[in-house]
Amino acid sequence: MTKRLSRTSLLGTAVVSLMALGLPAVATSASAAPAAAHPVSERTVADVIPAPVQAKANPKADFTLSPLTVIRTDFGASPDTKQVANYLAGLLRPSTGYPLPVIAAPNFGWPAISLVLGHADPSAGTEGYQLDVAKSGVTLRANTATGLFEGVQSLRQLLPSQVEAKTVQHTKWTVSGGAILDYPRFGTRSAMLDVARHFFNPTQVETYIDQLSQYKINTLHLHLADDQGWRIEIKSWPNLTKIGGSTEVGGGAGGFYTQAQYTDIVKYAAARHITIVPEIDMPGHTNAAQASYPELNCTGIAPPLYTGTDVGFSSYCVSSPTTYKFLDDVIREISAITPGKYFGVGGDEAHSTSAADYATFYSHVLPIVAKYGKAAVGWHEIATVTPPVSAVPEYWDTSGTNADVVAAAARGNKILMAPANKAYLDQKYNVDSPLGLDWAGLVEVKDAYDWDPATTVKGVDKDSEIAGVEAALWSETISTSDNIEYLAFPRLLGDAEIAWSPKSTHNWDNYSQRLAKQGPRMTAEGIDFYRSPQVNWQ
Ligand code: ACM
Repeated sequence: MTKRLSRTSLLGTAVVSLMALGLPAVATSASAAPAAAHPVSERTVADVIPAPVQAKANPKADFTLSPLTVIRTDFGASPDTKQVANYLAGLLRPSTGYPLPVIAAPNFGWPAISLVLGHADPSAGTEGYQLDVAKSGVTLRANTATGLFEGVQSLRQLLPSQVEAKTVQHTKWTVSGGAILDYPRFGTRSAMLDVARHFFNPTQVETYIDQLSQYKINTLHLHLADDQGWRIEIKSWPNLTKIGGSTEVGGGAGGFYTQAQYTDIVKYAAARHITIVPEIDMPGHTNAAQASYPELNCTGIAPPLYTGTDVGFSSYCVSSPTTYKFLDDVIREISAITPGKYFGVGGDEAHSTSAADYATFYSHVLPIVAKYGKAAVGWHEIATVTPPVSAVPEYWDTSGTNADVVAAAARGNKILMAPANKAYLDQKYNVDSPLGLDWAGLVEVKDAYDWDPATTVKGVDKDSEIAGVEAALWSETISTSDNIEYLAFPRLLGDAEIAWSPKSTHNWDNYSQRLAKQGPRMTAEGIDFYRSPQVNWQ
């Protein structure tokens, strides 16, 4: 209990003083300088982040886009293949100014970027791809549309960084020559965004989705309910958003997603091969719901709304049937508009729920999740209740030892790794960071890269026991897209690489050089990233 409470007491001071001074919590370190072109020789297939499984550069095989280049799919290509082709055209047209028509036809010898579904090396699996850049054209092969999409993200990095600009740029649009064969180490490459402490509107979430997909993140976990806010419309319990959604940390206006808006976010993410995992935190972190409905409190009295940053003071009424009727409605309504397999059941820091009540609570809730066709993902504390093996405990602690998590892994639960001292994007980079917390320590760019999911929890050391990696961004100190970008970038790229790339590629010196080359790219995209002194930025 003490650890996170001590962090929040520190935090309370930081946030209050920033706000008292009337200072916008805006990061200022990203350079506004225009992206400098770097020679193509400095931008090879081996520079891609996350590092590919195999990459062979061939400087004699550069391909150059021209006004005649076409984006080609096979004749009769599936709609999801065409969607990837159109997505690629949408990326390349604004900055090149070229028409880049998407054509479904055999290759009649056009200068083409060809997207071919099937015929990829079997090792590419369901998310990997093969990318071949030759003088005559680019061929991207994958066994699935998802693999094509991930290959497009690599292809993007083989072009000059100005390709990311939203207006026409004048440069030679050279694609670095060579060959890549690539596939992920872990199936779950996740980011978590806390939209409860501060609300982020659908456009802000979609901007983050675009940024995440660029680095092959395939899961966005939305933390939709906490003490400070309830952020998703539940039609059968309208006060959740009317009252519980009406504020946020610091007392701002808060907000929420209607079910239609949430559905749009899910679709936007799906078009970028990202699955949304909705989380409703429970049985603690529940003040916003309990302020909305007195019957969710054992006292029968609704507490006031809460805009501070303490944790551990709230709990649903475990002994009341109304609690489970309520959660059945919530899980039913959200599951109905969530195509993904997982529903997030929270479970962290339930300091006001006894261990016995915690177990009783989940003995009611986990079957509800199953009833609505979902598997549970929860913070690692849920490992204590012996959830079904379909459940994914998410390790967020820093100690590296946890007998309940080890026992869950031994039973067959896959563990998602988000160690706070490595993978929490909300921790400060250094003592002077204008945003972020520091209860888990300072997390510089090198710290965020220098870890391995298979040595994070002693006794959970096989890749087969690990679902993947999550980079978590809590929002006590952030309220704008610039703020998100400052804390997430560039640390997110490290987590993306740890989740995707073979362990054998792990090397800070090499990574930091590749990361340096992402600087002009992020700048061209308008990403307000932290220019860490650990990186020799271009
Ligand atoms: C957490 O950081 N309380 C999951």
